[in-house]
Amino acid sequence: MAAMKCFECQYELCETDPNVKTCDNAFLCYSTTTWSPLKRIYEYNKGCIPDRHHQQLICGTKLSKINDTHHVFYRSHTTYNSYCCQQDLCNDWFPKIIDNTSKTASVNNEIVNESAESGVGVMFVVYIMAAIFIIMTVIGVIVFRLRKKHKQKMSHLLRTGLSTTNVEKSSNDCTYNEGLRVTAAGDSTLREVFEHSVTSGSGSGLPLLIQRTLAKQIHLEECIGKGRYGEVWRGIWQSDNIAVKIFYSRDEMSWNRETEIYSTVMLRHENILAFLGSDVTSYNSCTQLWLITAYHELGSLYDFLNETPLDIKQMLSIIHSIVSGILHLHTEIFGGLGKPAIAHRDIKSKNILMKDTYNCCIADFGLAVTHTQTTGKLDVAENHRVGTKRYMAPEVLNQTLKSDIFESYKMADIYSLALVLWEVVRRTRIDGCFEDYCVPYYNCVPNDPSFDDMKKIVSIDQQRPEMQENYKSNNVLLQLEKIMRESWSPNPSSRLTALRIKKSLLKISDEDTSLNV
Ligand code: ADE
Repeated sequence: MAAMKCFECQYELCETDPNVKTCDNAFLCYSTTTWSPLKRIYEYNKGCIPDRHHQQLICGTKLSKINDTHHVFYRSHTTYNSYCCQQDLCNDWFPKIIDNTSKTASVNNEIVNESAESGVGVMFVVYIMAAIFIIMTVIGVIVFRLRKKHKQKMSHLLRTGLSTTNVEKSSNDCTYNEGLRVTAAGDSTLREVFEHSVTSGSGSGLPLLIQRTLAKQIHLEECIGKGRYGEVWRGIWQSDNIAVKIFYSRDEMSWNRETEIYSTVMLRHENILAFLGSDVTSYNSCTQLWLITAYHELGSLYDFLNETPLDIKQMLSIIHSIVSGILHLHTEIFGGLGKPAIAHRDIKSKNILMKDTYNCCIADFGLAVTHTQTTGKLDVAENHRVGTKRYMAPEVLNQTLKSDIFESYKMADIYSLALVLWEVVRRTRIDGCFEDYCVPYYNCVPNDPSFDDMKKIVSIDQQRPEMQENYKSNNVLLQLEKIMRESWSPNPSSRLTALRIKKSLLKISDEDTSLNV
């Protein structure tokens, strides 16, 4: 074999000028790459192999034949690779070190610091894994805490919202369970459930466990209303229709208050929406607050008036039922099964439901305040919610309402009631003619008016809904006009009371026996 010429370099020179110097008389040419663990660098060498003995040392014995004249040796190791060849100046590149591979001789003639790169890669993977681990741990802790908080909230709601229900200890026909009287809601009819809830002494609703059992047996059928508070659904219980008001959790305070009002107070009255129970459930880790009541298929007074003009007898009957409901609310009943006086604070046609075409009931006690004369206790529950701006009394709008005096809230209710009376009276057929339904102040303020819009119209300009000219031709309407004017007076204390209005209504219908309500 003829002596060859090879490239020759050592260490740093190989990195700067690998193919500048040469050596002669070689038996083989070689180039090597060696990983120096101490210095943590690759070291490179090239040069001439003078004989077979050196060939074995440097190149090993593994021979690959590329063609007849070109034979190469590879020696691969995780820290040392050599490349030996048999042509002039054939050692013009360095073999790469790749862990655990036999592919050590790459055709790429760049010097690649690959192991260092893979070291960095390993570190990178370790960092990523550590980051993922930390993130997962943090998420786990957050989820755990949220679940714990949710559970605590649920049990708090169950305690504060539902435990206000008076419950009785066991009697012969009942199972005693968790200190509550349990009857089998399962076989009862809705009528029996209502009757039980009246006679059980448990406020206006059922004992807690029955409320919860009932809630579990309800099948929600269709959403019948949606508002800022949440949604109202028609549900089925034992083949009877019931209504379920599902509060948004941000309006938890209204649910709490309404549950409290219904549960602690003998509120049952023909003209107050009948309450069946409240329940807190967890749905997909969301708190669901339910208020279960009687269902009235005609919907709200607002819906009804939009659809239906009224005759005078029907109008009087509707007004009479609304005033009776408010009178029951406003009246304190003394004694064991009594009730405190309650002011509603959000009277409007959407919060009045049609029991039938002559009879209404009052709903939504989420803002109500109570007062007990004997103790002098005024209970204004904490709630960020305010009443409906369109129906706010002037003293609410100009913020002069005396919030520590219960009578002030009743007087504000009477102002709102007067607006509802106007809505009803306006829809009454007079001599065969009737007006379209309109909300109060429809011609003065935009839809969804602001507080300031209402304040300007109601408190500053002291405007009130207009009366029809033809009221003057009808004695009933004339008297109703007087009731409305006196009830929406800017001066709260000169407004009529619910009792006064009810008496006036009875007088009106007594004067004409065909109108008996
Ligand atoms: N809308 C709101 N509450 C309702 C109820 N109890 N029945 C029918 N419609 C309603």
